[in-house]
Amino acid sequence: MNTPLIAPSVLAADFANLQRDVEMLNRSAADWIHVDIMDGVFVPNISFGLPVTAAIKKHAQKPLDVHLMIVQPERYLEAFRDAGAEILTVHYEACPHLHRTIQHIKSLGAKAGVALNPHTPVSVLQDIIQDIDLALIMSVNPGFGGQKFIERTYERVRQLAALIAESESRAIIEIDGGVNQDNAPLLYHAGARALVAGSFVFSAPDPEATISNLKKVW
Ligand code: DX5
Ligand code: ZN
Repeated sequence: MNTPLIAPSVLAADFANLQRDVEMLNRSAADWIHVDIMDGVFVPNISFGLPVTAAIKKHAQKPLDVHLMIVQPERYLEAFRDAGAEILTVHYEACPHLHRTIQHIKSLGAKAGVALNPHTPVSVLQDIIQDIDLALIMSVNPGFGGQKFIERTYERVRQLAALIAESESRAIIEIDGGVNQDNAPLLYHAGARALVAGSFVFSAPDPEATISNLKKVW
């Protein structure tokens, strides 16, 4: 893979025109559609839930990359899989039985991801990295779009890329929060292979061109 996968976040879409915005993503160079689920408990904000995810799925021609920012995500894995999730990412900080939760996701036939808050050392993934398909490093504190990228993220990506290489894991590193045209190439060269972008894409005058440009990392 010599360009990053781009996963625009519909959190920044126009919710009154979701079909229009999902169709724009279908036409674009986006690889996945990132779906942010917030419960007002794990994070201090509520986004949307199962019916909206299913409505997105109805129009989406690209895989839904569902990021569960919720407590006890194991209670909802099957429901989000049924709503159309192809990737299900849970937070390390929300899962006391993470290994079991990962196996549960896989048993549903979905790809399994684990997300880390900015303060959680990447080394906590050491004993699970071979079991997961995706490791998501939050580059802002989860809960809101449009926040400033945390610069420490580059070093975290390098550390996690080293951990993945040592363990011969096939997990890919995804970055979420404050991604833009300036940091995307640097993140890719540090080892990230999937980039989530919300406000940078949807507030751009030409979102489709913006998505294509995010793939240009050389
Ligand atoms: C934040 C979400 C992100 C968010 C990114 O909690 O997980 O996916 O939509 O938005 P931007 O790209 O605007 O930082
Ligand atoms: Zn997200």
